[in-house]
Parts: sequence; structure tokens; C-alpha cells
Amino acid sequence: MSSTGGTASVAGTTGEDRSDYTREESRAIRQRSLRLLGALVDPLRWQLVLALAVLVVSTALRVAGPALIAYGLNTALPQAMQDADWMPTIAIVGIYLLAGIGGAALIGWYAVVAARLTQAVMLDLRTRIFLHTQRLSLEFHESYTSGRIISRQTSDLDSIRELLDGGLNELVSGVLYGAFTFLALLLLDWQSGLILAVAGLPLYLLMRWFYRNSQRAYRESRVVSAKVIVKFVETMTGIRAVKAFRKEPRNDDEFGGLSGQYRDVNMRSLRLFGTFEPGMMAVSAFAVAGVLLWGGLRVVDGALLVGTLLAAVLYVRNFFSPLQEVAMFLNSYQSATAALEKVSGVLEEEPTVPDPARPVDLWKAAGHVEFRDVVFGYADDRTILPHFSLDIPAGQTIALVGTTGAGKSTLAKLVSRFYDPSHGAVTLDGVDLRSLHPKDLRRAIVMVTQEAYLFSGTVADNIALGKPDATFEEIRAAARAVGADTFIERLPDGYDTDVNKRGGRVSAGQRQLISFARAFLADPAVLILDEATASLDIPSERQIQSALQTLLADRTAIIIAHRLSTVSIADRVLVMEHGRIIEDDAPAALIAGTGKFAQLHSAWKQSLV
Ligand SMILES: Nc1ncnc2c1ncn2[C@@H]1O[C@H](COP(=O)(O)OP(=O)(O)OP(=O)(O)O)[C@@H](O)[C@H]1O
Ligand SMILES: [Mg+2]
Repeated sequence: MSSTGGTASVAGTTGEDRSDYTREESRAIRQRSLRLLGALVDPLRWQLVLALAVLVVSTALRVAGPALIAYGLNTALPQAMQDADWMPTIAIVGIYLLAGIGGAALIGWYAVVAARLTQAVMLDLRTRIFLHTQRLSLEFHESYTSGRIISRQTSDLDSIRELLDGGLNELVSGVLYGAFTFLALLLLDWQSGLILAVAGLPLYLLMRWFYRNSQRAYRESRVVSAKVIVKFVETMTGIRAVKAFRKEPRNDDEFGGLSGQYRDVNMRSLRLFGTFEPGMMAVSAFAVAGVLLWGGLRVVDGALLVGTLLAAVLYVRNFFSPLQEVAMFLNSYQSATAALEKVSGVLEEEPTVPDPARPVDLWKAAGHVEFRDVVFGYADDRTILPHFSLDIPAGQTIALVGTTGAGKSTLAKLVSRFYDPSHGAVTLDGVDLRSLHPKDLRRAIVMVTQEAYLFSGTVADNIALGKPDATFEEIRAAARAVGADTFIERLPDGYDTDVNKRGGRVSAGQRQLISFARAFLADPAVLILDEATASLDIPSERQIQSALQTLLADRTAIIIAHRLSTVSIADRVLVMEHGRIIEDDAPAALIAGTGKFAQLHSAWKQSLV
């Protein structure tokens, strides 16, 4: 265990899910959970007060039962037997019935109020997680695997829901019932109350033992279950690579191992019940026996009435019966707490690329991009761009080439503000991207990558992604401009083809054409293409040259491409190496020279013949 991480590493949940926390870390995590709980409950506090009030009254009515019986046996029944006066007995029976029915009715009402509360909390939490994870910066998503995000939204929410739906009612009403019962017993016969209080010591020790052990087991179980989900999601998202490299047997082993671990942890926590429940029963039996014995002696002495003894015994038994339930739900309470800890961790992550507090509006961007002495690295210990300066005038088309890992995509991500530089600034028309209004930033700068993700929906929907109010004519014009219209019209339903349905499945190159149309329609002042032509074959790349010229006209463009044919349409070529620009000139001038680009170009020329 290390204590060097302190609270900082707790707030940063991007590390592994762990089960070994130092004391300060645990405290910080608990506070974080409580903060979240407070925020969730705050808007519902009056409903909560109502639910609690209903619960208190109904519990009091239920606890009144044995006391009424005692009164009936001690006072009312003797009157019926001696004076044939049945009125007190009838009255007591009536009150007993009323208390029972009233208590039951209130419990019913409480169930409805509590259900409304828990559903409101769940709705709030679910939307919070979605909105927040969506808002978090790319940096978070690159390190927090999708499997872990999925388990936050699924299994963690489920365990919180389980607790709220069933467990919490039992827990709160059980504890309240126990407390009221103990109070009533003290009032009725303090000596029996004392016996119960003495039994409370082993009870307390037993419950503490159970609580500690099951908490540990449940924390572990959450960690392992998250690993099982991550493994499953990773395998299924990477199923093509799994099959291509015959990774199935290895996956089987690993998944089998994790599932086995999960079973073991669960077994361990279930085995705790094997000690806990018999222990509870024994304590309960001793307490009842003690009250019965001491009470019996006093009855014989005439110091205690039989009715009071009966009520005392009933109270002691009643005291223990909800405690078993409470212990059962301690488990779901454990898992819900663990889940809440993780969820609150995600919800307290701050976007590393925050929206500006006082945004600058840029109504019409010209597209002048500048890197001013930018220093950037993904991690503190490794700089990718060391003191990088670059001026791209509005309207210029730049081709960015360089070896793998040179930092080309990094540069593109900085222009799109997926990351912020650690020193210096990236500006658009002289405005630091950090102070630009997010809507202006997204409208002005668009990056198209090789990924070309298609969302479920029609082809037209996918093209209109950056301009949801586009008319069908505009969508078609955009597709035509980049040469995507021919293949789209040949799809089963043309522009209305669902991209997730059979027949709507498009090839990688077609996906890229759709994403070009998407970019064309969005009409940004600055367009970045990162390897975006990689999936296009040579004939369609020739077609794409003219399409690209249409796409790039009248805007600033940064094209990152390994294929040198794409470079010819650029006004200016930048050759990048280890985060620095080593050559910067017009394509013709570079080809005529003797630099790196000239070598690359002649090698490429030769490969063509
Ligand atoms: N998300 C990331 N976290 C940490 N390091 C990264 C991340 N992305 C890239 N890097 C590192 O930054 C360096 C530059 O990567 P970058 O993706 O910018 O290269 P590139 O020039 O685009 O290469 P390629 O031509 O292969 O696409 C690489 O050394 C890489 O290891
Ligand atoms: Mg790259």
C-alpha cells in the first residue's frame, strides 16, 4: 500500500479499480459518495421527510402491539373474569385491530412514497452518468476503458437500484423497528430491557465482524466483476482481431480464470452467512431465555404480571427478527456503497479540456491557425511537441507528412482542441482555442479521421451529423460534391438506407466518403483530414483528388497522408520528425531539393513504374 497518492489519486479514477485503499483514501472516497448522495437527495428532501414520517408512525403502531396485549392480559381480562365487565377487553381488542390495520395501511403508503423516491434517484443518477461521461475530455476516454464505463452504467447502477428498491426499506424500517422495540421494552419492564442490552454486546461484535468481512469481500467482488465485464467487452469489440489471430483459446483461459475468481469471492462472502446466522439465532435464544427465566422468577414472587412477561418475551423476539433481514441487506448495502464509490469517482472527474468561463464569440472564422511556442506531451514525463511554432494562413492547404509516431495526429488533436498544450497556445484567427466558445470551435474546426464512425440511423442522418437541420437537397449536394452520390444511390433505400441493417453495411472506403460528405456539409473554416484517404483505392483516390479539391476549396486544410499522391494538391508541405518541422515549402520546391521529402518522393515515383 502506498500513501503517496493521497486524495489526488482518488479523484483521478483513471487508474485501475483497486480494493486496497489507505485510510485517507477511504475517507476521501466516502466523502465523495456522500456528496453525490446529498446532491441526489437534495431535490427530493420533502418527499424523504414525508416517507420517514410515515415510517415512524407506522413503526410506532406496530410496536404498540405487545404493550396492548400486556394491558389486555394484566388489566382488561381480569375485569372480565371478576366483574364480567367486557368493555375494557373489547376496547383493547378494537385498539389492537386499529393499530394493526393503521400500521399496515401506512406501510403500504410508505412503499409507494419510497418507490417514487428511489425511481427519481435512479433516473437522476443514470442521466448524470451519461451526460458526464459524454462531457469528459478525450484524455479520460483514452485511459478509462469502455468496459469500465459500461460497468458503471450497468452493474453498478443495478446494485444501487437493488438496494434502493428492496434493501433500503428493510434496512431503515428494520433499524427503526429495533430501536422502537427496545424503547418500548425499557418502558414496559426495564429489567428485561437490561437483559436485552447485555445481549447487545455479543450482537454488536457479531454484526461488526460480519460487516467488516462482507465489506471486504464485496469490494473484491466488485473489482473482479468489473474485470469480467471488461474482458468480455474487449473480446467482443475486438472480435475480428481475436479471430484473425486465433486468440480464442487464450481468451477462454483468461475469462475462465476471471470467472473462477469471481465465483471464489462470491463464495467467500456467502460463507460468512454460515457463521453469522447461527450466531444471531444463538444470541436471540439466550436473550429470550434470560428474559423468560428472570421474568418467571419475578412472576412467582408476584413482582411481575404474566401479561408483562409475555409482552417482554414478544419484544425480545421481535427485536431480533428484523435484524436478520438487516444483515441480509447489509450485503446489498455493501455492494451499493462500492458502486456508489465508483460512480461518484467518475462523476467527480473534471474535463481536462474545460469550456471557457468567459467564451469569445467568433461569428465567422477566417481559418488562420497558429501554434505559438506550444509544448505538449500526453504524460508529464514525455514531450511530444517541444516548443512548436507554426503559422497557417487562412485558406492554405497544408500536407503534413512524416514517419510514424512523428506527432502528426497529435498536432491535429491540438488544433481540434481534444487536448490543451501545457505551454504556449493554439489560436484560431488570433483567439486562443481555450477561450473560444465551444459551439464556435466545433463549427469552425472539423477533423475527419480514418475511423469514420457511422451512428445507427440512415445514410442521410449520418451525413447531416454536423448540421442536423440540413435539407435533403443540401445532403444530396454534399454527397455529390465529394463523389459519394453514385454508391449511395445504389444502396437498397438510397439515402434512407439504415447503415446498421443488412444491405446498408458499407465498405471502409464508402464510410470515408460518407464522412467527407459530412465534413463538406458542416462547412468548417478549418478542415483536418488525418489519414482520411487511407481506405480509398487508387481509381477512387483519383476521383477523390477532384472531390478533395472541392472539399478543400475556400478553407484552411491540414491533410495528413502517407500517400504522396494526395500531397500534390497542397499549397505547402510540412515534413515532421520527432515533433519538429524539418522541411516546410511548396511541394514542387521540396521535390526539386535534396531533403527528406525529395527522397520520399523519388522512392514513391519509382514504386509507381
Ligand atoms: N493517447 C496517447 N497517449 C499517450 N501517448 C500517445 C497518445 N497518442 C499518441 N501518443 C504518442 O505520441 C507520439 C506521436 O503520436 P502521433 O499519433 O501524433 O503520431 P503520428 O505522427 O500521427 O503517427 P502515424 O503516422 O503512425 O499516425 C507517439 O510516440 C505516440 O506514442
Ligand atoms: Mg497519426
